Amino acid sequence: MHVLNGNRSSYIIDAAAGGFPVCCHWGGPIASPSNNLADLHLRDRSFFVHSGAGTDRIQPELLPLECSWPGEGDFRQSMVDIRQGGEPLCGFRVSSVRSEAFSAPAQLPGFLRKGDEQNLVIALTDDHTGLVLELRYAMIAEHDAIVRSLVIRNETDRSVSVERAFSARVQLPPGVQDILHLPGAWARERNIERRRPGTGTFSFGSLRGASSHSFSPSAALLADGTGERSGECYGFSLVYSGNFLFSAETDQDGGMNILMGLNPEGFSWNLAPGEVFETPELVMIHADDGLGGLSRRFHRFTRERILPGRWAERARPILLNNWEATYFDFDEEKLGRIIDSASELGIELFVLDDGWFGERNNDTTSLGDWFVNRNKLPGGIEAVARKAHEAGMQFGLWFEPEMVSEESELFRQHPDWCLHIPGRERPEGRNQLVLDLCRGEVRDALFASISEILDTGLIDYVKWDMNRSAAPLYSPAYSDEPMGNCAYRYAAGLYGLFGRFTAAYPDILFEGCSGGGGRFDAGVLAYMPQYWTSDNTDAYDRIAIQEGTSIFYPPVSMGSHVSAVPNHQTGRLSSPAFRFAVAAAGNLGYELDPLSLGVEERLEISWQIAFYRKHRKLIQGGDFYRLEPSGVGEHAWITVARDGSEFMLFWFHPEGAVNRAPSRLRLFGIDSASSYLEEAEGKLYGGDELIHHGLIHNWGDAGGLSLIRYFHAEGERLR
Ligand code: DGJ
Repeated sequence: MHVLNGNRSSYIIDAAAGGFPVCCHWGGPIASPSNNLADLHLRDRSFFVHSGAGTDRIQPELLPLECSWPGEGDFRQSMVDIRQGGEPLCGFRVSSVRSEAFSAPAQLPGFLRKGDEQNLVIALTDDHTGLVLELRYAMIAEHDAIVRSLVIRNETDRSVSVERAFSARVQLPPGVQDILHLPGAWARERNIERRRPGTGTFSFGSLRGASSHSFSPSAALLADGTGERSGECYGFSLVYSGNFLFSAETDQDGGMNILMGLNPEGFSWNLAPGEVFETPELVMIHADDGLGGLSRRFHRFTRERILPGRWAERARPILLNNWEATYFDFDEEKLGRIIDSASELGIELFVLDDGWFGERNNDTTSLGDWFVNRNKLPGGIEAVARKAHEAGMQFGLWFEPEMVSEESELFRQHPDWCLHIPGRERPEGRNQLVLDLCRGEVRDALFASISEILDTGLIDYVKWDMNRSAAPLYSPAYSDEPMGNCAYRYAAGLYGLFGRFTAAYPDILFEGCSGGGGRFDAGVLAYMPQYWTSDNTDAYDRIAIQEGTSIFYPPVSMGSHVSAVPNHQTGRLSSPAFRFAVAAAGNLGYELDPLSLGVEERLEISWQIAFYRKHRKLIQGGDFYRLEPSGVGEHAWITVARDGSEFMLFWFHPEGAVNRAPSRLRLFGIDSASSYLEEAEGKLYGGDELIHHGLIHNWGDAGGLSLIRYFHAEGERLR
């Protein structure tokens, strides 16, 4: 038995079942596992195909396999499918088990290694060809997180074609019944969907070249009855931003078999002798304390092991972005006035969004031409950046590096630099084509042109946008290889660029964006510590978007901005307090024209900024709890300091509710033995009182209301 122990969980693998690797246990901690754990799997049943003979006789379909392939009697969906000359490779058996450290995939992001991981590499060798599959495991005990990946080594003397290569396969124990995931669309990303799939296969994924708005590369599996505060659950989050697939197959015995990783649809990889193929890393976390416990483990893991180390704990600046203030309609003078006005409010970073380059006055032109539009900005980016710096703010700039407009100098010079099939129509989205990041010269040219601006030393922040899905996923540069390699090569090329920029400009804060939150995933977060959560800035809609996002991603990673009313996406009106309370739960910014604000609004925003600055460390670094208020349609969250000494409450009453009793909100995650002073009203509460009785609030009938309240521990009851 091979045991990986987390603080509150164990993952136990056995390779004794005829050389098939099986998961004997993934769940609560087991101090001294015995061979009894394998009993469940040693059956011999009618109508199952077996391999081997005598004592080696195995019916693979009865095993909770850690890796599977077609052709030997496991009829569930396979983790790998590898062919040599058309013949499937199907004789893999465990050939070695080693506890050796391994590095992140060479071309893909990986979690931060700190030397405290328990590592395991299980090698499987195909008896006929000698091809090797390496199942890699790293347990990070303090987070109960296991990071898995698959590496394929072609140690044969002929090429193979890899048709399927998921990062991991695992069979969950009986009792796990519900799937929770985060489907969405542009402007309504990551809404929570919980469903009971029943027998058969439930899957979701992306073929868009990016993880996408439609499906997030993350999922949780929940035991019957698991809620926010209690129950067992299992979470999966792929450190990858390209085509992916999550699949949960509930078999005839109720076993739920999970596969997650590269989407096999359209995938095919030619692996020559001596070559190695690496799959993305998959983070798998077990929690015994409900969905909330799972989220907090993912949040801490993401902050400590995914976000670039130098940014993980750094305070994120409060920014003002000019997109909804001006769209494409700005010049140097107007920006100057916005900058002065924003600085008076206390804004810390001014971000110049789309429209500053080439001849970009609308979205039909100039992507790829990363030089300033002197008609709009005669003094160049330098003048605007200096203006922001002189006003005491940092300066940030928008790019959409992966794209090219047909109407651009770049396209005129290099019409073949986009993904396309020669001789066929090139499908556009938002009037643009996707650059072929599979090609080194395209990446080099992008790096060079964007670096010219970053090298001025005047840029403190970059917003890296991406506004269309990739089609066709075909690079003519690799026409001698199967088309199925393009999605992976594109992702690897993209990460190569991310890595180059973030290494060359370590002090620039990069924020990811894809038409809002279309590529919000652990792969991007490994380079960019924050992400624009959604183009929908309506505070009502943002509650669901941010709550959904919080299942796997920490609030500090979510760009959340206060915008103008009527809201530009929905036309809805809401109070400044409500808009602030929602935005302040994440990484605060403003997405409005400060010149259009009245005196009262300016005073209010100055207060908001001062309040957020005062409590930023708590909000950005604390532990996040989703609570369950008693009122219909209400939502509430708290962020609690790690030592329980303070917390911030965000409580929303979005819809009016006529003639209702006062709402009650029972807290958890705070210290029951402390007394907490709520600052605004000067009221003192016992922690036990807040936990067991709750906070009572009378909203009245109106909707669109919110409370944002700061509590800190008082007196000696603090532990
Ligand atoms: C989409 C982004 O999500 C917006 O915030 C803005 O940057 C636009 N693109 C600009 O084109």
